[in-house]
Amino acid sequence: MVLPPLSDPNPSTQPSEIAPAEVAMLVDTAKLAARIGGAVLMHWRGKFTTRVKGPSDLVTDADLASQSAIRHVIQESFPAHAFIGEELGEKPPAEAAAGLAPGQVCWVVDPLDGTTNYVHGFPCFGPSVAAVRDGRVVAGAVFDPVAGEMFSAGLGAGAFLNEAPIAVSQARTLEESLAAVSLPAEVLEESPDLKDFIRIAPQVRALRRIGSAALNLAYVACGRLDAHWARQTYPWDAAAGVLLVSEAGGVVTGARGGPFHVWDGDYLAAATEDLHQSVSGRLTP
Ligand code: IPD
Ligand code: CA
Ligand code: CA
Repeated sequence: MVLPPLSDPNPSTQPSEIAPAEVAMLVDTAKLAARIGGAVLMHWRGKFTTRVKGPSDLVTDADLASQSAIRHVIQESFPAHAFIGEELGEKPPAEAAAGLAPGQVCWVVDPLDGTTNYVHGFPCFGPSVAAVRDGRVVAGAVFDPVAGEMFSAGLGAGAFLNEAPIAVSQARTLEESLAAVSLPAEVLEESPDLKDFIRIAPQVRALRRIGSAALNLAYVACGRLDAHWARQTYPWDAAAGVLLVSEAGGVVTGARGGPFHVWDGDYLAAATEDLHQSVSGRLTP
């Protein structure tokens, strides 16, 4: 369950209904694009050059090549749709999103989530591709090209790993939970992210930080993880994964307790309401 965005004072911008057939087409395109992006990432392994984008933040040839392949696939199917990708964006995502027309579909894409893992040969990375309409994620795919795992979901259509339906775990308490956190690229000693880590680590069975927000959310959706949160990510890290969790029966809000907003980049996803409440109560406000 994802709590809906706060109601908009302008009724003309309320989310409109979307037909199941349209959702299915968007999911198919998201999967195709993520699969092709994943193939590009595998192709570039061992050959890419790396450059530093910001403090502890890397970008490689593979990020750029994957984004251009993904964008090409989407534009072939839906030339009129908008596109916001992590790489080569001219505007911050929220600013770009403000220019969208009501009802317009916007693709929100991370061509390589887990770039640091990719650079180090740590096998936890992949593309995340989501279609967003009127602030709601309506289709999404997260692909792990090393494991060959395609996670996908459509609004109202369920969540899948490859072709099999998936569901969140039944975990209700912290003690029985395997949780994961996503930290920002640059981790400052005094950051609330680390305070949360210290507060929650002793309460859960184990707490992981594995370096791909998108795959963490996919793992909550299929029951490998019980809870996952991030205070500072970007829409392309979370959009597809949040839909995976909600369609798999999980609970998603913003990290500070209000409704999840796709353009904000913070979230708390948990398998059950009880577990969500327990994590939420311990996160720094
Ligand atoms: C990063 C990963 C990581 C999250 C960072 C993101 P990138 O994405 O999702 O898990 O903690 O905030 O920036 O930079 O590898 O695409
Ligand atoms: Ca990312
Ligand atoms: Ca990325």
